[in-house]
Amino acid sequence: MKKPDHYAVFGHPVAHSLSPLIHTWFAEQTGEALHYSRQDVPPECFETAVGAFRAGGGQGLNCTVPLKELAFRLADTLSPRAQLSHAVNTLLFRKDSVIFGDNTDGVGLLRDLTENLGLALANKNILVLGAGGAARGILGPLLEQNPKLVIIANRTEERAVMLAEQFASFGNIRACGFAQLQDRPFDLILNATAAGLHGQLPPLPNGLIAPGGVCYDLMYGEKALPFLEWGRVQGAEIAVDGLGMLVEQAAEAFWLWRGVRPSTESVITRLRDRA
Ligand SMILES: NC(=O)c1ccc[n+]([C@@H]2O[C@H](COP(=O)([O-])OP(=O)(O)OC[C@H]3O[C@@H](n4cnc5c(N)ncnc54)[C@H](OP(=O)(O)O)[C@@H]3O)[C@@H](O)[C@H]2O)c1
Repeated sequence: MKKPDHYAVFGHPVAHSLSPLIHTWFAEQTGEALHYSRQDVPPECFETAVGAFRAGGGQGLNCTVPLKELAFRLADTLSPRAQLSHAVNTLLFRKDSVIFGDNTDGVGLLRDLTENLGLALANKNILVLGAGGAARGILGPLLEQNPKLVIIANRTEERAVMLAEQFASFGNIRACGFAQLQDRPFDLILNATAAGLHGQLPPLPNGLIAPGGVCYDLMYGEKALPFLEWGRVQGAEIAVDGLGMLVEQAAEAFWLWRGVRPSTESVITRLRDRA
């Protein structure tokens, strides 16, 4: 019998990753014969580890923190959204030996916002907190929704300014530091900072959330709690973590690798029930 195709997530650390569980459930659901593992790969070992994985018959990888930029540089050819985000979270090892790199984070977030949560983003005021890799990955798909305005606010203001300049041709986008956020209500606030990793919250003023506004943390689980709690106290109608985004970005990677689109709803429900 043919061995199942092999995929994996590389990260550092990676023990916490839910990707093996998600892809195993996708495979069960769709009847695809695949095995999905995780591997802790420090950045300096990334290229060697990818080479060894390919030599062992591996067909594709997910790359997570801190390897997305290295994956971007390793890929021979890139999807337009990976080019724009300067980061790759999905590698496909093609039969012609070409390494194809994609970034499914942005589309994953957009599917969670628009399809799972039913939000319409056109003509809305959106605040993105953070200007790192995750923020860069979501700006293109966000601006495609034609929001009225996207403001990027970051602890290091220059990084926000650089991102806003890079995406200026895609829509109405501006940048500032947290201190300049006074008295400006937003329909949607996306926390794309790593502050929650340290149990922290960016220093946000009161009055940032418009009536009916939504707070969304790209992190999920306990690490999202400080921001979601802030959102609820500040009057957000919906305050939700990034578990849906995680499952949606995985579904897009699964589709790229297998040509089959898994249903995400049952997987999100199973993960929430498990928590
Ligand atoms: N749900 C999903 O599928 C998904 C996908 C991708 C990412 N994410 C999450 O998104 C988060 C950000 O990832 P990333 O790749 O963008 O990380 P990153 O490139 O390291 O960027 C981190 C960002 O957080 C800011 N920051 C860090 N600590 C802070 C603090 N204490 N207060 C305020 N701002 C702080 C940094 O500001 P400075 O520029 O000033 O350093 C920077 O803007 C991660 O925690 C990750 O879990 C989730």
